[in-house]
Amino acid sequence: MIRRLLKRRPRLLPSLLAYQKWAAAYPPHAHNALMRAEESAMLALLPPLDGASVLDLACGTGRYSLLCEQRGAKRVIGLDSSWAMLERSSGRYRAAALMEALPIASTAFDMIVCGLAIGHLRAVQAAFAEMARVLKPGGVCVISDVHPQLFQGGAQRTFEVNGVMFAVEHTVHPIQHVIETAAAVGLTLDALAEPPLLPIDLPANAAAVPVAVIYRFIKSHD
Ligand SMILES: C[S@@+](CC[C@H](N)C(=O)[O-])C[C@H]1O[C@@H](n2cnc3c(N)ncnc32)[C@H](O)[C@@H]1O
Repeated sequence: MIRRLLKRRPRLLPSLLAYQKWAAAYPPHAHNALMRAEESAMLALLPPLDGASVLDLACGTGRYSLLCEQRGAKRVIGLDSSWAMLERSSGRYRAAALMEALPIASTAFDMIVCGLAIGHLRAVQAAFAEMARVLKPGGVCVISDVHPQLFQGGAQRTFEVNGVMFAVEHTVHPIQHVIETAAAVGLTLDALAEPPLLPIDLPANAAAVPVAVIYRFIKSHD
């Protein structure tokens, strides 16, 4: 998923076009080392889900929808901008929508989960305002992103289709900026994780640098 710039540069695509191409080879489970590290840290930060209503934002092929259903969520709704990704999801309730303009009533959800998607937004303010709006007071929002450090030195989010390498547009959102943007709309940081690769995926003698960042926010009651 993340690859250093090689001599043969991947073709850079906007996210909608990228996921249209990538969807057929994008299973609803962690399918690379970065995702395994990210998922393990996300699951550690999920609150108890028994009976909860959950919004899986930018659900893709439904990885977190399935994991939330398995953990006892009462209802999980998956939204994503890509029909190609949604078509591959086995989540029960899913629809096409943009994170920045959610077709959802205010205070509808106990929890939001959003995996590896905010980096596809050029700016995060609108999406955070929408997350704050659709969460109930006291609701929890768990969000992951590729760690900003990975992009120092020119790394990209890449995938391959029929031997052709593509890269997906990604905007680096510094951690402090994300925390301040969330705070401005009433989402208070409650926990932060910066996991390195899992030991099983870490090459021998490699340094354990963070590959993902996970934020857990709580919506204030006022
Ligand atoms: C890396 S995939 C992650 C999918 C899923 N959350 C997971 O963790 O397996 C990123 C997803 O974000 C979606 N996406 C990108 N920009 C979006 C936007 N503005 N609104 C909604 N979904 C978006 C893409 O279509 C893609 O399915």
